[in-house]
Amino acid sequence: MTAPIVRTLSELRAMTRGWQRAAEIIGVVPTMGALHDGHLSLVARAKEQADRVIVTIFVNPKQFNTPEDLENYPRTEHEDAAKLERFGVDAIYVPDGAQIYPDGFATNVSVSGLTEVLCGAHRPGHFDGVATVVTKLFTQTSADLAFFGEKDFQQLQVVRRLARDLDLGVEVVGCPTIREIDGLAMSSRNLLLSDQARGRAAVLSDVMEDMASALTSGASIGDLMTEAKARLKASGFGDVDYLEMRTNDSLALIERAEEPARLFAAVWMAGVRLIDNIDVPVAR
Ligand code: PAJ
Repeated sequence: MTAPIVRTLSELRAMTRGWQRAAEIIGVVPTMGALHDGHLSLVARAKEQADRVIVTIFVNPKQFNTPEDLENYPRTEHEDAAKLERFGVDAIYVPDGAQIYPDGFATNVSVSGLTEVLCGAHRPGHFDGVATVVTKLFTQTSADLAFFGEKDFQQLQVVRRLARDLDLGVEVVGCPTIREIDGLAMSSRNLLLSDQARGRAAVLSDVMEDMASALTSGASIGDLMTEAKARLKASGFGDVDYLEMRTNDSLALIERAEEPARLFAAVWMAGVRLIDNIDVPVAR
């Protein structure tokens, strides 16, 4: 079934009003397109939990740090619609800029605390851009449920916070990271890697898995950093923006796996910034 592509807020509202009158649960899957199996896993989950599913595709200019990054971001609307066909979603919402940021738009949604570390520290303004667009997408779609990937764990926690703080009435559902066979977390940005760089990129998840098991065996992260960074360098990785263990809920930095935590990395490979995070089971 081909889902209708909806480009304006008024058309979208015409659909959601009927669904709300029928007391149907509306699920939204916000994306920036270039859909892969990671995105599609969220769509599958949404289909299980919601009566109506809206997938949004909007490459949000406010969350990019440089004009080049925004320009290079892959845009594949036709293929995206084809990939969604088998799921039977109810609408694909592809707003143009004016539907989201009309002339004179002057509001910024900013979550403090959680956004000051990790990607927030390295990408100024990024999470304000995410928080603002996600708030708009939640209210525009009248969502009851919203599906986000753990691939972007900090984003997931920021969105949970804002949904609660602003009483948006949306339950945020976190979904596990989908990986390629060699372990590389799926990402639209992987399309920007050359074959050679793509081949080497999987070392990141190997290094993180090894670190996580050493942490669970009682090592401190300081003990593991030198070797981990040397392995990344030897595999052709460039700058390490961060490689840190933080608690799940507040993203507080910790040295040892003494409470529920994750290992977070952002590393450059051939000009592409790759991020990943994995669970670190509490040390026995
Ligand atoms: P985008 O990078 O397109 O990701 C859309 C959703 O897919 C996010 O919730 C992300 O965590 C999830 N996702 C991406 N790769 C995944 C993987 N390998 N496994 C599981 N889930 C994965 O994240 C954004 O877009 C934007 O910031 C957005 C929330 C749409 C706001 O503009």
